Amino acid sequence: MDWHRLREDFPILHQEVNGHPLIYLDSAASSQKPRCVIDAITRYYERDNANVHRALHALSMRATDAFEAARRTVARFISAVTENEIIFTRGTTESVNLVAYAWCGAHLKPGDVILTTGMEHHSDLVPWQFAARSTGATLKHIPVLDDGSLDQEAFERLLTPQVKLLALVHISNSLGTINPVREMCAKARAVGAISFVDAAQSTGHIPVNVQEIGCDFLAFSGHKICAPTGIGVLYGRMAVLEKMPPWHGGGEMILNVTLDSCTYKAPPARFEAGTPDIAGAIGLASAIDYLEAIGVSHIEQHGLELTSHALEKLGCIEGLRILGPATGPRGSLVSFHCDFAHPHDIVEWANTHGIALRGGHHCTQPLMKRFKVPGSTRASFYLYNTPQEIDQLAEVLDSARKFFS
Ligand code: ALA
Repeated sequence: MDWHRLREDFPILHQEVNGHPLIYLDSAASSQKPRCVIDAITRYYERDNANVHRALHALSMRATDAFEAARRTVARFISAVTENEIIFTRGTTESVNLVAYAWCGAHLKPGDVILTTGMEHHSDLVPWQFAARSTGATLKHIPVLDDGSLDQEAFERLLTPQVKLLALVHISNSLGTINPVREMCAKARAVGAISFVDAAQSTGHIPVNVQEIGCDFLAFSGHKICAPTGIGVLYGRMAVLEKMPPWHGGGEMILNVTLDSCTYKAPPARFEAGTPDIAGAIGLASAIDYLEAIGVSHIEQHGLELTSHALEKLGCIEGLRILGPATGPRGSLVSFHCDFAHPHDIVEWANTHGIALRGGHHCTQPLMKRFKVPGSTRASFYLYNTPQEIDQLAEVLDSARKFFS
C-alpha cells in the first residue's frame, strides 16, 4: 500500500498552518474526508435530494434507495445479521443515549446493576448515570490497572446476577487500550446481562464484527471514519431491538396514529423519528466503500506501525511519560504527560509548528484522576499519517521540552 500516495485523496491535508505543512494528528477527535466522500455528498445534493420513505416521485425514490443502500453497506461492514439491526443516529453519543433511555427505561428497576468501566468516555458514562438515576438501578465500574488495562479479577467479582447491562469501550480514546470485548460480552451474557460496546475508536481502524464480538449493542460515529459529522450508528441485535420501546416520537416511526395513541413500526424505523441525515448516511456509505477498498486489516497494520514508531520516538523524550499499555497491540493513538508543560501549552506549541494534537482530559475526567494527571496530550493517527510526521512531532516535542524547561 502506498500510504504517501493515498494522502492525495484528502484535499484538506495539502495546506500550511502557521507557515508549516499541516500535520494532522487529531483523528481520534475527528478524521479527515477523502475526495470521494465529499463528491458523494455533493452529488446527492446536486442530483437526488428529497425526503426519504415519504413520496413516490423520482427524486424521493432515488434518495430512499441510496439511504437504504447505505444501511446495507453499514450492516455488511460490521457483519450485522440484517440491515434492520442498523439504526442511524447522530453519532456514538446519541446511540448511547438512545439505549440508556429506551432499553434501560423499559428493563431496569431498583436493585439492578449497570456495569461499566473506569476508562469510559463521558458519552459512555453520563447517559448510564441518567439511566441509573431514573430507574433506581446502581452504576458500578470495573477499575483500571496501572498498565491501562481493565482489572479482570474485579470484573469477575462485580459480574453478579444483578448486572443487567455491561457497557464498555472497545478502544480507549485516552489510553489506546484495546479491551477484550469478545470475552467480556460472553461473560456478561452468561449471567443474563446484555452488552453495549462503544466502538467509536475501533470501527474503521480494526476489523469490527458484531457477531464475533457477540455484543447486543455497538455504536460508532461516521465522522471518525472519514464520513461527515452528524451521522452515526447504533447496531442492536434484533431480538433485543424488538423488545425496546421507541425514544423519539414523530413521523415515520409509527404504524397507526389516533388522537390518543399510536402503534410503532418494527426496528429500525421505530427508532428513527423525523427526517434523518440522508446525505450523512450516503457519505458514510461512501467512506466505508473507500476504507474497504484499502482494507481495514491494512489500515490496522498501518496504525500499529505508526503507533509503535511513536512509542519509540516519544519514549526517548526526557520528562515525557506515556499513558496506557507499554506493550502489545493498542489503538492508533499515544497519550502522554509532560512534566515540563501543561497539555494546553504543548498543543499550542505544536500548533505554531503546524501540528494538530489534542490536549486536556479527553472527555475522561475520572480516568485522568485515576492516573493523577490534570490532563494529557494526545497524538492520534489514521490511514493518511506517515512515520515522517511522527519524526517531526518528536522534534517539536523535544523543542518544547527545551523551551519550557
Ligand atoms: N471522542 C473524541 C476524542 O476523544 C471527541 O477526542
